[in-house]
Amino acid sequence: MEGTSTFHLPSTDHVRYTNGVLSLDGLALDDVVAEVGSPAYVYSLDVMAAAMERARVAFAPLGGEVSYSVKANSNLAVLARMVRMGAGFDVVSGGELSRVLAVGGDPARTTFAGVGKTDEELALAVRHDVLVNIESSDECEALNRVAAALGRTVRCGIRINPGVTVDTLAPMQTGSAKAKFGVPATEARALVDAWLAGRYPRLTPVGVHMHVGSQVPEPSGVVRGCEVLLDVLEYAQQRGLEEFRRFDIGGGFPIDYGGPAVPTVEDFAAALTPLLGGRSELDVYLEPGRSIAGPAGVLVAKVLYRKHRPGQRMLVLDTGMHHLIRPALYRTDVHRILPVVHGPSAGPTVVVGPVCESTDTFSEHAELPDLVPGDLVAFMDAGAYGMVMASHYNTNRNPPEVVVENGVARVSRPREEWSSLYASEVWSQGVS
Ligand SMILES: Cc1ncc(COP(=O)(O)O)c(C=O)c1O
Repeated sequence: MEGTSTFHLPSTDHVRYTNGVLSLDGLALDDVVAEVGSPAYVYSLDVMAAAMERARVAFAPLGGEVSYSVKANSNLAVLARMVRMGAGFDVVSGGELSRVLAVGGDPARTTFAGVGKTDEELALAVRHDVLVNIESSDECEALNRVAAALGRTVRCGIRINPGVTVDTLAPMQTGSAKAKFGVPATEARALVDAWLAGRYPRLTPVGVHMHVGSQVPEPSGVVRGCEVLLDVLEYAQQRGLEEFRRFDIGGGFPIDYGGPAVPTVEDFAAALTPLLGGRSELDVYLEPGRSIAGPAGVLVAKVLYRKHRPGQRMLVLDTGMHHLIRPALYRTDVHRILPVVHGPSAGPTVVVGPVCESTDTFSEHAELPDLVPGDLVAFMDAGAYGMVMASHYNTNRNPPEVVVENGVARVSRPREEWSSLYASEVWSQGVS
């Protein structure tokens, strides 16, 4: 990092100014754009791998195993790197499961969560021996029926809604009593009773699961959630379900988007140690996504035009909410925006995208130099919930994804062609 920088760089050091140019893992981002064009997502696979390893080490004293939550970034090169390091996976759709299978991920170490799994998705999971974390008694019926039709059994966990509200943005709260996710503890106990009564003969219950939210700002909500899970697990074990040992605490570890300081994964492990330490009756699992992929990636974009509101400077970029929707979704400028070529800040700048929605605004007050058309900017911490949430709104195409490994960059997914956006559509009745 240059000592004179007026910009708030990430706390990790893989993104830094080198000779005045922003680089990721030592690769100058203007060079990357010269090669692949703008906009472009760029990810460091080594940084993602290091974050996985860090989580593993932090939770090792609790016997924790780390799965990667695919929803954060499902790029195949990312998943393949996770496979190479022996990670399990957390998926939430048949599509995500297909991606994991495509890169040789171990289905036996993959778990499937989600409130609305279809029969088709359940069948895919059953056929591949994927553990299904069920979220309602209706889903138990459906899974039992699907497994029976395939002549198979399936391992499953109960996703519990612990009734815990964590202090994160409301859309990212998933563990409060009103949330659609999981079943309350009372219903979880009833499911255990139903299993013991032989109601779901095709399901092999193996444990409990939760995910109380994402970007969780401090560990107490996770600890409270785990207390609820422990009650259910003990209830099941006391009634003879000895193989009911799986204790999946979900993901949610926060990253430094440039706001208030956030606790580390080690802080979460330490907070959970009094409750979970030394418990040989538990197999602890975690499934982080954001903390693995987020800081590892940036979205580089180009200034197209300058516009002026009364008293304000405004830049229009060649990327928008169709590529990075988080600022529009959460109505807050959640990503730091840095100039690719370092220069003194010219004061607060409004940064917008080209999409025909006023919410296509990245920031109302980004600190940027006096940029002109053609200059580049980079969105920090865009490796998670970036490209995976991209859309084709306004029939825009998606940017390429570039992955960097051992200092070498390669295009993992090329920029889409205009024609690929409608190639599969049928526009005539085909009458000759
Ligand atoms: C069930 C489940 N596990 C893990 C995650 C990953 O969360 P994060 O990216 O905050 O670590 C999510 C995110 O929504 C989730 O729903």
